[in-house]
Amino acid sequence: MKILLVGSGGREHALAWSISASALVEELVIAPGSDAMADLGKCVPVAADDVEGLTELAVNLAADLVVIGPEVPLVLGLADSLADNNIAAFGPSRVAAQLEGSKAFAREVCQRHNIPQPAFAVVRNEDEARQKIDTMGEGCVVKADGLAAGKGVVVCDTAEDAKKAAAEMLGGRFGAASQQVLIEERMVGPEASLFALVDGADCLFMASAQDHKRAFDQDQGPNTGGMGAISPAPRLDDALRDQVMTEIVEPLARGMADEGTPYRGVIYVGLMLTTTGPKVVEFNCRFGDPEAQVILPRLKTDLVTAMLAVVEGGLGHFSMRWDERGAVTVVMAAKGYPGPYSKGSEIRGLKEAARHKDTLIFHAGTMIDRDDNVLANGGRVLAVTGLGGDGASARQTAYDAIGCIDWPDGFFRTDIAKG
Ligand code: GLY
Repeated sequence: MKILLVGSGGREHALAWSISASALVEELVIAPGSDAMADLGKCVPVAADDVEGLTELAVNLAADLVVIGPEVPLVLGLADSLADNNIAAFGPSRVAAQLEGSKAFAREVCQRHNIPQPAFAVVRNEDEARQKIDTMGEGCVVKADGLAAGKGVVVCDTAEDAKKAAAEMLGGRFGAASQQVLIEERMVGPEASLFALVDGADCLFMASAQDHKRAFDQDQGPNTGGMGAISPAPRLDDALRDQVMTEIVEPLARGMADEGTPYRGVIYVGLMLTTTGPKVVEFNCRFGDPEAQVILPRLKTDLVTAMLAVVEGGLGHFSMRWDERGAVTVVMAAKGYPGPYSKGSEIRGLKEAARHKDTLIFHAGTMIDRDDNVLANGGRVLAVTGLGGDGASARQTAYDAIGCIDWPDGFFRTDIAKG
């Protein structure tokens, strides 16, 4: 098979690693990919949000399958454009991807299908926002409706803070993405994520994970895209997993199909484990980053066979095998991230680190110069994954490998998966 993978980050490096190990794959092309991925496939400089360019590339390659890593091309309709050209895609249609692209769309789908979630209201002007915030009581969450690069959610302690956040968003802080805003009840409890495959009708649990969003130890500092993750999620036991599948994923898949917008791909369910049961924080229509870097190393089944089961509607007869061990990934980021940071500093010791047993190093933002030096080229730069008999030993493996990496301009959290 000829596969085109779309994306360039740490998640896509993990996908490329997994796809290139498939017995079914003869050729892997990655758009745009990165220097670190060039060992796994041919990188072609077409941007991940260039729907027309990617469609043309897939047609010219006669790709058998296009695997779409990030949310932006999904929300822009890359899967539909490929379907128009008879090319199979792993990833939902533009309308189904609204589960991530529009928080109002996702909440309304959940409401129609009795999927547990917090109370919410969608508002379009400041008067409406103030009124809903006053009825929600102290402590609510204000969210931009559309994609806002992970910055569109503000958890507020007071009504005053919530009104300020809503006013800023409605005033155009995120452009079209915050033309409408959600005011949500603030839920309390530990968070976890569940990943499942959906083929338009059937669903199959994949794995759980828990990420660490704040930049610094002890959950201090600004929110980031994720500074590390563990899989399985320690708090999501088998009973909760089954409850999430029965109460959330299955009704979601049925509901989307019944409404004529079937979902096909991986669904990432962000959960709050409240005292009254698991509730939906958000949906994402793709693998998480850095969650993919802990989930895919645990997958023993050929990933491409699972993707084909999704594309061909065969999940009802499919099962997956998983490594019983746990995985922990620790993200190394450029100093300053998620604010301004500089690029170009050299990272040494990666070969030594990769020689550690049960260790994988995924590159999220690096470039490799002519002399084979690895240079930082992004905010989140590396994800160092360790596998181990349990979370504690996986964690130890990841941190042992990080101990070999010499990068004075980078930083990482020292408490990923601790406790
Ligand atoms: N780690 C969070 C995300 O991928 O959205």
